[in-house]
Amino acid sequence: MNDIATLATRPPILGLQDVRVHYPMGTDWLGRPKAVAHALNGIDLQVQAGETLGIVGESGCGKSTLAQLLMGLIKPTSGRLDWVYNTDSERSSHVQIVFQDPQSSLDPRLPIWKIITEPLYVQRSAPRQNMRDIAAKVAAQVGIRAEYLDRYPHQFSGGQRQRIAIARALSSNPDIIVLDEPTSALDISVQAQILNLLSELQRARQLTYILISHNVSVVRHMADRVAVMYLGQVVELGSAAQVLEHPRHPYTRLLLEAVPRLGAPVDDAHVSAPTELPGNRNLPKGCFFRDRCPQATVGCERPQALLPASRSSGTEQVRCHLASAEQGLPTQPAG
Ligand SMILES: Nc1ncnc2c1ncn2[C@@H]1O[C@H](COP(=O)(O)OP(=O)(O)O)[C@@H](O)[C@H]1O
Ligand code: SF4
Ligand SMILES: [Mg+2]
Repeated sequence: MNDIATLATRPPILGLQDVRVHYPMGTDWLGRPKAVAHALNGIDLQVQAGETLGIVGESGCGKSTLAQLLMGLIKPTSGRLDWVYNTDSERSSHVQIVFQDPQSSLDPRLPIWKIITEPLYVQRSAPRQNMRDIAAKVAAQVGIRAEYLDRYPHQFSGGQRQRIAIARALSSNPDIIVLDEPTSALDISVQAQILNLLSELQRARQLTYILISHNVSVVRHMADRVAVMYLGQVVELGSAAQVLEHPRHPYTRLLLEAVPRLGAPVDDAHVSAPTELPGNRNLPKGCFFRDRCPQATVGCERPQALLPASRSSGTEQVRCHLASAEQGLPTQPAG
């Protein structure tokens, strides 16, 4: 974990401005979409170099879509992604991902040295004859011994497989690693080891992490800042201490009240609110959280552009007009 004040002085490595991702669903006889899934609905974020930005939210809120966007696997429907370090052509080598389940994310037919150097192979960014040496070096950094390089994924334990997945993410020397539920498929006893390894690697290699997790205790342990997502929007963003200990958005408060302090996944929380998570296909009018918000008032149903101000600065956001009544942050229109 980093000191928040120090982080704020570092340059942003990535900026997202009003990013939207809408998936067309089904087509009529003219080829026009019948419906649209609104996966991301106006994401504004700056990622600071060297930080761990935790992303939490219930399933369906857009976490995986965000990860795919950062990986360059999908394009935004509108809005901007600005990478500070690189041009479009180099981008893929600057972001890598570690998936939740190393069982399914590692190709069972490849020896692990080939798995580890897969990103280099795909990018053709290192001569083939160097691949094994590179694999050995990176494997050592994650605690996998060189004599295991010719073994196959099934010959390793779950924790070791996740180490191999981390080595694969490191081999192309990326600036940012997206960690998509990196420990949720692992035994409790192994989780802490993997989280500690990730922390060590971050210090040694000045990595930036985007940590997607259902698990509030994992986020509390790892993250410098936390973004809380709801229906494809960031509803609250701030330092981990601020967001997790003194949440300001009504949704964050409900979420944290419902999650026992030790390690329950957010989806098990059964947030006690009047309705289910509304579908992203037909977005609510006004504030997206209005149907479930215990503090909703008449004004909250106005179209988003007309809602009273929510609060936002470079490193903090609260997407609720009630927050503008509190002290501390400049205001900007919700929307
Ligand atoms: N390829 C797709 N086509 C249509 N809808 C999608 C697609 N991918 C995701 N969605 C929808 O977008 C929303 C966000 O999904 P996702 O990013 O997977 O959320 P999370 O990872 O937080 O569970 C969901 O409503 C989901 O059904
Ligand atoms: S804007 Fe209104 S409905 Fe939305 S979170 Fe704030 S109080 Fe609740
Ligand atoms: Mg997901």
